[in-house]
Amino acid sequence: MPDSLITETEVAARVAELAAEIDADYAATDELILIGVLKGSFIFLADLARRLEVKHRVEFIAVTSYGESESIHSGAVRMLMDVRHDIEDCDVLVVEDIVDSGQTLEYLMRLLAARAPKSLHACTLLRKPDRLEVDVDVSYVGFDIPDVWVVGYGLDWAERFRTLPYIGQIEPQV
Ligand code: PRP
Repeated sequence: MPDSLITETEVAARVAELAAEIDADYAATDELILIGVLKGSFIFLADLARRLEVKHRVEFIAVTSYGESESIHSGAVRMLMDVRHDIEDCDVLVVEDIVDSGQTLEYLMRLLAARAPKSLHACTLLRKPDRLEVDVDVSYVGFDIPDVWVVGYGLDWAERFRTLPYIGQIEPQV
């Protein structure tokens, strides 16, 4: 099993803190639209949403940013599945598992901003500051982590380890 980088307990504590911050910031909001970015965000989104007190709706969007080799970043972002509802005039929070180069989130924020939401912000569980290629604004960050390959809590390596309950660290070439 992968070595632990962030334990299940640490993740849960940070998710609760993020939910409290979001609740405070959206206290005056009628309804927050959470847009989970598939597949990686599904576990984080489920835990975060269940902690939120603000009235919210859950949507999903699916994009892919990696090429055939799971460890090589192609740079291209491709939309696989769009949200089901119009977001015009809505308060929108994009929920990501990880911001690595930032290309995926940058693409999504541009795409969603063009639909004229009332507000648009992003939340990510993990971010790798050393890998950022684009300047993308993330309002809520769970953990800034070093440039290591992480799995678990939604994140995979070649579809493995997504449902590990903690954030693990692996050497993908092994
Ligand atoms: C991962 C992750 C983010 C993106 C981050 O998704 O879930 O969406 O990469 O990388 P970036 O900041 O360099 O763009 P991936 O394409 O691996 O798909 P998955 O979530 O379905 O595993």
